[in-house]
Amino acid sequence: MDRRPPGVARFKARTTPSVGDSMPRRRTRGEPKPSMKILFIGDVIGRPGRRAIENWIETLKQERNVDLVLANAENVASGFGLTTETAEQLFAAGIHVLTGGNHIFDKEEGHRIIDRDPRIVRPANFPPHTPGRGFGLYEVGDVTVGVLAVVGRKFMPPVDCPFRTLDAILESLRDRTSVVIVDFHAKATEEKLALGWYLDGRVSAVVGSHTHVATADEQILPQGTAYITEVGMTGPYDSVNGVQKEIALQRILGRLPVRPLLAEGNVTLSAVLIDVDPITGRATGIERIQKNGDF
Ligand code: FE2
Repeated sequence: MDRRPPGVARFKARTTPSVGDSMPRRRTRGEPKPSMKILFIGDVIGRPGRRAIENWIETLKQERNVDLVLANAENVASGFGLTTETAEQLFAAGIHVLTGGNHIFDKEEGHRIIDRDPRIVRPANFPPHTPGRGFGLYEVGDVTVGVLAVVGRKFMPPVDCPFRTLDAILESLRDRTSVVIVDFHAKATEEKLALGWYLDGRVSAVVGSHTHVATADEQILPQGTAYITEVGMTGPYDSVNGVQKEIALQRILGRLPVRPLLAEGNVTLSAVLIDVDPITGRATGIERIQKNGDF
């Protein structure tokens, strides 16, 4: 049984997935390009979210010269959790690494792929012995990129401290990479902002997920960390956080349990495109991207 602390539990067992194989190589070895572009896609919700990815992602990658695509996928299987089938759909559509939050283990059938596939990163501050890994290292051309996920503690189920968990992981990564992206899956704006400032200059980007409504506070913090409180969701926008409006109202106004069915129709893709200097790890730009369609 793995008794190493959470967050670093899988570090020594980490592998280099085949992410780089599907990425364009624009530089010769030893000549890092001056900037790399990392696209982070906010919570992908059910089938509508997957359709949005399939419809837009390849075009986005080509138009914006994207090197690495990350997506939060904790809601991708009918709105709750991740399964092998849905994970494979996202990989096939062009996502390189999936991150997770509080719902990542909601579908039991997905536990196996979360544990085994190095392209999936679950929250690092989950309890010890949780399947999977809290961070991964990925070769993107000549650059190693670290991807971490943590969940917040304000108005969320109890977990270990995300701040101290990140301290431990970042210390272990110090000599391995300067490019690190953190998905902070949290509810409270206060907690998200605090983590952004806490990590300023220590990671390339802190991107918020979980609350599904994009915020307009994208910025580069003084020491070079890109930050946004909430990237927003990728899924049915004409809804309450992806759930059919009528059902969401029943759940709020009544006391009887009502199954939260996903909405259909109008679909939105929410993302941020982050420019990073691969040598220093400092971010040089962050841009919100939103696409809407009715399919
Ligand atoms: Fe969540």
